[in-house]
Amino acid sequence: MSMVEDCRLIELPRIARDEGNITVIEGRAHVPFDVQRVYYLYDVPGGESRGGHGHRELQQVIVSAMGSFDVTIDDGSSRRTFTLNRAFYGLYMPKLLWRELSNFSSGGVCLVLASMVYSETDYIRDYDEFLSVKKSA
Ligand code: TYD
Repeated sequence: MSMVEDCRLIELPRIARDEGNITVIEGRAHVPFDVQRVYYLYDVPGGESRGGHGHRELQQVIVSAMGSFDVTIDDGSSRRTFTLNRAFYGLYMPKLLWRELSNFSSGGVCLVLASMVYSETDYIRDYDEFLSVKKSA
C-alpha cells in the first residue's frame, strides 16, 4: 500500500546554457512509468489551493515548471508537504495517496505527467471514501 515515504523527488536532467536551460522527461527513463498524459495548471491566482483528491490507479510526477507551490501528500495516517520551486525536480507519487496543492505563487505553472489518460472513475474526491479505500487495499 502506498505511503508518504514512497513519494520521492526525482532530479531531472538539465541541459544548462547561458541562453537558457532545457529539462527533458522521457517516460520509463526519467519517470517510473509510461507517460500517457501531460497536463498543466496555470493562471492560478497567487495563494490559491486545489487538488484535494486521490487516485485509485494513477501515478504522477508533479513539476513546478514556473514559480512555486506546495504539495501535501496524505496516506491516511501521515502527511508530508513538499515545496516545489525548481523546474528540474519532479515529485513522484504512486497510486492511492491523497494530495492537495497550495500556496501557488502568482504566475506559477504546475506540470503533471500522468501514467493514464483522464478517467473520472479513477478519482476519489471524498476524503472519508479515500480512507475506506485505503483500509480495504
Ligand atoms: P481536477 O483534476 O479535479 O483538478 P483539481 O483537483 O486541481 O481542481 O480537474 C478539474 C476538472 O478538469 C475536472 O472537471 C476534470 C477536468 N479534467 C479533464 O477533463 N482532464 C484532465 O486530464 C484533468 C486533469 C482534468
